[in-house]
Amino acid sequence: MPGPTANLFEEAGQTAAAIDRLFAEILASPGDSRDPLYAAMRHSAIDGGKRMRPLLVRAAARLFDMDETRALRVGAAIEAIHVYSLIHDDLPCMDDDDLRRGKPTLHKAYDEAIAVLAGDSLHDLAFAILADEATHPDANVRCDLIAELARAAGPAGMAGGQVMDLEAEKVGQLDLDDITRLQQLKTGALIEYCVEAACIMAKKDVAARTPYRGYARNVGLAFQIADDLLDVGGDEEKAGKRLQKDEDAGKATFVSLMGEDRAREQAQVLVDQAIEHLAHHGEEADLLRAIARFAVERDR
Ligand code: IPE
Ligand code: IPE
Ligand code: MG
Ligand code: MG
Ligand code: MG
Repeated sequence: MPGPTANLFEEAGQTAAAIDRLFAEILASPGDSRDPLYAAMRHSAIDGGKRMRPLLVRAAARLFDMDETRALRVGAAIEAIHVYSLIHDDLPCMDDDDLRRGKPTLHKAYDEAIAVLAGDSLHDLAFAILADEATHPDANVRCDLIAELARAAGPAGMAGGQVMDLEAEKVGQLDLDDITRLQQLKTGALIEYCVEAACIMAKKDVAARTPYRGYARNVGLAFQIADDLLDVGGDEEKAGKRLQKDEDAGKATFVSLMGEDRAREQAQVLVDQAIEHLAHHGEEADLLRAIARFAVERDR
């Protein structure tokens, strides 16, 4: 019988295929001088990445008996924001990387202008997907989805965290509270939004959202610690990106603060806490539990 882990890989594969199909449909070239922009968006958005954020939305939506197609559309919107953040993160003015998801980074495959504009356009695409009636028939739900994604992606979320990450390169080592806040904004906010979006679609009241918020917060933090551990000890081929860069760049991470062993322990504690938040559920939450474990056990 397939256990939760086998199930995770099957679900991840289905999610990736569905997201690829949706992006291929939306990002078909218009057949005019914008074709390079569309080709660039497809280069970064299709056929790559773990698609963990859309998988999280699907898993949470399924727990709440929500429509699968709608969950996939929300997952694609989040993935569009995530891909935009990676394109810009790789630019020379940020982390200056030449490899992403096993392919040349977008500014290497095209040029910086196209990379900036493809990132901008994926950002816009996310909100266009959420505003579409196909995502949810209730306009209030669509407004909530849009408002919360704007918060998670903007200065109070991912973009703000990216600035903290760059500022930390200048000031040197941060303390635990500052690194936790940096990571929560940079990476956690978008991962938290994956589960929040499912709560919004299911019209859960605030009290009912508490355990899922706790779960997502812990998974988000653990996920970035795992990324920082991969930078130190991972395999570039598997990760599909350059590693061993954070220390030289002076990045403030859990690993730089407490060392590899304690950072790994900390990530495991966070995963255990995430799973604890789902204690009121039976096996219907096994996929969410498997995603939490995968967030730190992954090698890519
Ligand atoms: C990498 O994200 C950047 C972080 C926020 C840690 P992922 O590890 O999810 O990258 P992909 O989507 O699988 O390429
Ligand atoms: C990036 O964090 C987080 C984003 C918001 C894109 P990193 O800079 O550590 O991500 P990688 O290691 O390049 O994927
Ligand atoms: Mg970065
Ligand atoms: Mg980077
Ligand atoms: Mg990294």
